[in-house]
Amino acid sequence: MLSFQHQESEPQLSQAEKQKESIQEVRRSLPVFPYRQDLLAAIDQHQILVIEGETGSGKTTQIPQYLLEEGYTAGGMKIGCTQPRRVAAMSVSARVAQEMAVKLGNEVGYSIRFEDCTSERTVLKYMTDGMLLREFLTEPDLASYSVIIIDEAHERTLHTDILFGLIKDIARFRSNLKVLVASATLDTERFSSFFDDAPVFRIPGRRFPVDIYYTKAPEADYLEACVVSVLQIHVTQPPGDILVFLTGQEEIEACCELLQERCRRLGSKIAELIVLPIYANLPSDMQAKIFNPTPPGARKVVVATNIAETSLTIDGIIYVIDPGFCKQKSYNARTGMESLIVTPCSRASANQRAGRAGRVAAGKCFRLYTAWAFKHEMEETTVPEIQRTNLGNVVLLLKSLGKCFAPDSDHIVLSLPDCNGQDWSGYSTQWCYENFIQFRSMKRARDVREQLEGLMDRIEVEVCSADGDNMKILTAGYFYHTARLSKGGYKTVKHQQTVYVHPNSSLFEEQPRWLIYHELVFTTKEFMRQVIEIDSSWLLEVAPHYYKSKELEDSSSKKMPRKMGKAREELG
Ligand code: CDP
Ligand code: MG
Repeated sequence: MLSFQHQESEPQLSQAEKQKESIQEVRRSLPVFPYRQDLLAAIDQHQILVIEGETGSGKTTQIPQYLLEEGYTAGGMKIGCTQPRRVAAMSVSARVAQEMAVKLGNEVGYSIRFEDCTSERTVLKYMTDGMLLREFLTEPDLASYSVIIIDEAHERTLHTDILFGLIKDIARFRSNLKVLVASATLDTERFSSFFDDAPVFRIPGRRFPVDIYYTKAPEADYLEACVVSVLQIHVTQPPGDILVFLTGQEEIEACCELLQERCRRLGSKIAELIVLPIYANLPSDMQAKIFNPTPPGARKVVVATNIAETSLTIDGIIYVIDPGFCKQKSYNARTGMESLIVTPCSRASANQRAGRAGRVAAGKCFRLYTAWAFKHEMEETTVPEIQRTNLGNVVLLLKSLGKCFAPDSDHIVLSLPDCNGQDWSGYSTQWCYENFIQFRSMKRARDVREQLEGLMDRIEVEVCSADGDNMKILTAGYFYHTARLSKGGYKTVKHQQTVYVHPNSSLFEEQPRWLIYHELVFTTKEFMRQVIEIDSSWLLEVAPHYYKSKELEDSSSKKMPRKMGKAREELG
């Protein structure tokens, strides 16, 4: 008879367990970790707490998990964490789901406009600040939340600023609601004083020194200067990834193309350079690539908007290239002109950017401007968005709070292209390609339409198709956005401001006598965007309180307004 001997095998960790262990190790290595208990005690003690910590210290990914582990989600209550940027909400929630080993959308989820990746089970909810603002319409006291974290508070986006006011209000009567205001190391005293001197909890950062280099003379072409600097670093500097700050998608794509082309030309003379873009509209699978570790022997260069300033932390960055610009919105309330122009960033921004180089080791920041410009041409801090944007929509939203039977009052009245008679909802990628239309933009337009249709359905307003009468409806809504043909361009009726039809407009050639515009945007000139032709006599009919007939003299319009279907939305 054979005898078998049972031998105990060495306990072996499975691949999944190993990965779990290493994730927990990373969690324990973050600057916030040693302060876990102190932080939880402070949150327990105070209803409102301001939390200040260097970017990458673990505020966004760790604090909600600590709260969850501490029992703040008992009874199905939620922890909400707002982000000013969609990309950050998506990528941070994905990271937290990975750390908790759950499927994104279950216990951990995110909510951004047109994309709700949450479920009944979601207790950690990351969302854009705009989405939380919308939740006030359906749940004015945010009763399903035990904690609200207003993250990236230093960004001072319009929605974040509005949230401050609303949340301060509800905290007064919801004593069991905890409010955390999390910010990079900027402006925290201001937040504290706004929230009735709420205490500030400081997470000491671990920063390595960053050497700053300036150019001797201003750079005429900062895009080209970026490309040259990246290649110089790649060829002459020790290992370490590069982060380049540009102002938007177009610049970023151009920079990436130039880099790829020059690398191709240099071929095997240089080590591999992995070029990765990151901006808000980039598809999420492409976004995720920036977090992949760089293979040995290669170097990664991430070309980003200021999303990488504080919202996202990319490990391994040693070199930062900062041309010193950002795209900024500004609004002139008197003329109603909105502009989106590339402007020098603030010194505070420049310092945050430089800081990205010193997270894992001593780093270098190459500023593509002079030390003089840094001192004399840059503002100290960025002006908060609320002081430089059109407040129309947000005022409507606030007015509808406490009533939103009308859940939404945004009066987005963009007419949709008529797709050459084709049913526009049935467009295909092929059709978009043939008509020089971005499929993604078209999908977005469809999403907006569906959302508006849903809202109209809810308040029982019938949706009817466009015809001549609807032009009058638009005139009734936008009577104050009227312009009249004058020498060389148009003049706004009320302010006599000189404005122009955008070259992308279908009415660019026609130059009708009277127009209603959707918005005024200054880019290279003062342009009206989304215009329709009207009959000036309608103005007296729909807005007799606003116009005097004298102002509208010469009311004979060049010709009768055409059908609404032809008044096409501009894509500019
Ligand atoms: O919010 P804060 O800037 O303080 O830091 P965080 O976003 O919580 O990031 C903490 C750390 O998590 C980073 O330093 C990264 O190591 C890691 N992380 C990551 O690997 N991938 C992400 N998508 C987000 C964070
Ligand atoms: Mg963060």
